[in-house]
Amino acid sequence: MSYSIQGKNIVLGVTGGIAAYKSVELLRLLVKVGARVRVIMTENACRFVGPMTFEALSRQRVCRTLFETTDEASVQHIHWAQEASAVVIAPATANIIGKLAGGIADDALSTFMLAVTCPVLVCPAMNSDMYASKAVQRNLQILRDYGHALLEPDAGELACGTTGPGRLPDPSVILNAVHGLFVPKDFIGRRVMVTAGPTREAIDPVRFISNPSSGKMGYAIARAAAQRGAEVTLISGPTAMTPPPDVRFVPVTSAAEMAAAVLAEMDRQQVIIKTAAVADFRPAEVSSLKVKKEKAELTLPLERTQDILKAVGMRKQRDQILVGFAAETHDMERSATGKLKSKQLDLIVGNLIGSSDAGFCADTNRATFYYKDGTSEKIDLMPKAELAHVLLDRVAKLKV
Ligand code: CTP
Repeated sequence: MSYSIQGKNIVLGVTGGIAAYKSVELLRLLVKVGARVRVIMTENACRFVGPMTFEALSRQRVCRTLFETTDEASVQHIHWAQEASAVVIAPATANIIGKLAGGIADDALSTFMLAVTCPVLVCPAMNSDMYASKAVQRNLQILRDYGHALLEPDAGELACGTTGPGRLPDPSVILNAVHGLFVPKDFIGRRVMVTAGPTREAIDPVRFISNPSSGKMGYAIARAAAQRGAEVTLISGPTAMTPPPDVRFVPVTSAAEMAAAVLAEMDRQQVIIKTAAVADFRPAEVSSLKVKKEKAELTLPLERTQDILKAVGMRKQRDQILVGFAAETHDMERSATGKLKSKQLDLIVGNLIGSSDAGFCADTNRATFYYKDGTSEKIDLMPKAELAHVLLDRVAKLKV
């Protein structure tokens, strides 16, 4: 079962706030991930951004009034509501929040919303005093009670010159929350720790030993677990990735720092997933000064780093689930199942690296899951974001 947004019908409701310009980027991101998006704008929204921008990006007519005629026989707003897989209202003004809470239907968007039965995400954006007001907070609580998902506004400088909560979050954060509407919330109440990225082992102040791990797989798992309701801690070596929303982010550099962070955190975790490409060796001595190139030859004595996963496996309690990754160039089954046993894992994800569509840096991955009970499961090539959810589907079903 795929939880992807691709092919889904999404209705984007845009109301009249200065943040309406961010909805243009949100629409672009939704279209990019393969959603079919229809846009409904209020008249006030049209004062901030022209409907033509949304029409060009969505390749669909924007719905603005109740009284438009279309080629379709059915009344447009009812028809769109029936076809929608999800609705996102961004930005949502105090006005639309009040109308949704009260069941008022006096324009295209509010009327459409009364006919909606699919999941709804509301993204409030307004002045911070308005946001904190009793009326808005009461109305937001009513929307929660209706089962709508709410995306908390960011705090920061607002268009009105004040500072506080009220800013519409970045479009990528809203996209993440839209994706969250399609995933099961089966990790609510569970703490999940994910390690990701490479480690760097210093040679001197300007050089290090590392590997090409991008962190994409680990960040995808952390994001997916947070979308499914887990309390996520992401411990990551240096990468170019932005930490996903709603995760506790612990940046580290070396294997020793990663070991310290993991061992300090592990006892409170229910699920531990180690995707990090930890360096197995580090320079036995780190020069405090830059090593100069005058020497014709340089030999670097190396020493082993700690096998973090093995240490976690030895300390883990019976009710903790431990998942490892094994990136192999050959002999995958033998190496992966060997690591499954020696590190006392419940599941290991084997990756054959070497092709451009899987392993380090790729956006897709091809994996085989090896389980403690001796069974295995081959997973087809798919985006890492989807593989992350497939892995969590299996972890959710593991008996400990
Ligand atoms: N791992 C770890 N600490 C290390 C090395 C690896 O925690 N010092 C973890 C990785 O995060 C991964 C798993 O162990 O989940 C397997 O890593 P991999 O590099 O494939 O295996 P190694 O145990 O290092 O064995 P080898 O390099 O000999 O294949």
